[in-house]
Amino acid sequence: MAPLDLANEAQIDAAQTEGQSVDIQVTNPPSESNNPMQEERKTGMSTIKFLNENKEVVFASGANLRFKALENGVDLYTFMGKMMNCGGYGQCGTCLVEIVEGMENLSPRTEVEERKLKKKPDTYRLACQTMVNGSVTVKTKPQK
Ligand code: FES
Repeated sequence: MAPLDLANEAQIDAAQTEGQSVDIQVTNPPSESNNPMQEERKTGMSTIKFLNENKEVVFASGANLRFKALENGVDLYTFMGKMMNCGGYGQCGTCLVEIVEGMENLSPRTEVEERKLKKKPDTYRLACQTMVNGSVTVKTKPQK
């Protein structure tokens, strides 16, 4: 008997009722998925890849980028930033990062960012103002 399409349950039921053996052909088993976006949707977990530190952090959607970096030992600040950062209130601009991939997975720029980053490329964000909703690649301490 030719393999049956899994979607055709009626055909499978009929064959089993008649005592026939049923060959089931699974065309795309979930365990063989190589697509990280499909995997992300299934698990609700995404990754932040910090390029300079060569570190990947798995997180649940909606995380704050600064918090996730600090929580995982990623140093966001230059020497002056370490001494004078505002603690994540969007006032100092020292938590500047460049988004290399996954810009579409971030919250839009806040008003504070629009003001502070007026002269910076669109790919620059303040980590403390950025919520992450999917996988991204981040470069800390970008050239100013
Ligand atoms: S920590 Fe000060 S602006 Fe982000």
